[in-house]
Amino acid sequence: MSHQPLVSVIMGSKSDWETMRHASETLTSFGVSHDCHVMSAHRTPDLTAQFARQAEERGIEVIIAGAGGAAHLPGVIAAWTLLPVLGVPMESQALKGLDSLLSIVQMPQGVPVGTMAIGKAGAVNAALLAVSILSSKSPDLREKLRQFRQNQADKIISESVP
Ligand code: RP5
Repeated sequence: MSHQPLVSVIMGSKSDWETMRHASETLTSFGVSHDCHVMSAHRTPDLTAQFARQAEERGIEVIIAGAGGAAHLPGVIAAWTLLPVLGVPMESQALKGLDSLLSIVQMPQGVPVGTMAIGKAGAVNAALLAVSILSSKSPDLREKLRQFRQNQADKIISESVP
């Protein structure tokens, strides 16, 4: 894995890590260098804006942002950068993540956030989509993604039920 991070995985609270670690682990399994940070659109607004504004010049190509509840972090990040932002809704206690999902998915026209499924599936898929985006410039990564899909298919084909 090279040292220059290509993906930033960010989250609104350390409490999101249990979900967002699945994005990080998936990127690691593909050998994609990335960094992980906690920042909050409402608790650390200046840090969040600064991070998003500087991401492109740091060489970041995709940002994965997890957030729960009002879940404005992905949208705020997207407002400050032209990089693709993939939002992962946390499974909140109060509304089981429906609040997070609707907040992230309902970006008004003009500033998109690619919205994933709620929770672990969304975190893993955000990483897989980041790999897919990066693989347009990397035949090696494209091949790893092809192999991943093949392994997944082989597993299903080999399964049997009583
Ligand atoms: C959001 O509020 C975070 O993304 C987190 O999912 C949620 C709750 O945060 P904590 O109260 O656990 O710090 O900003």
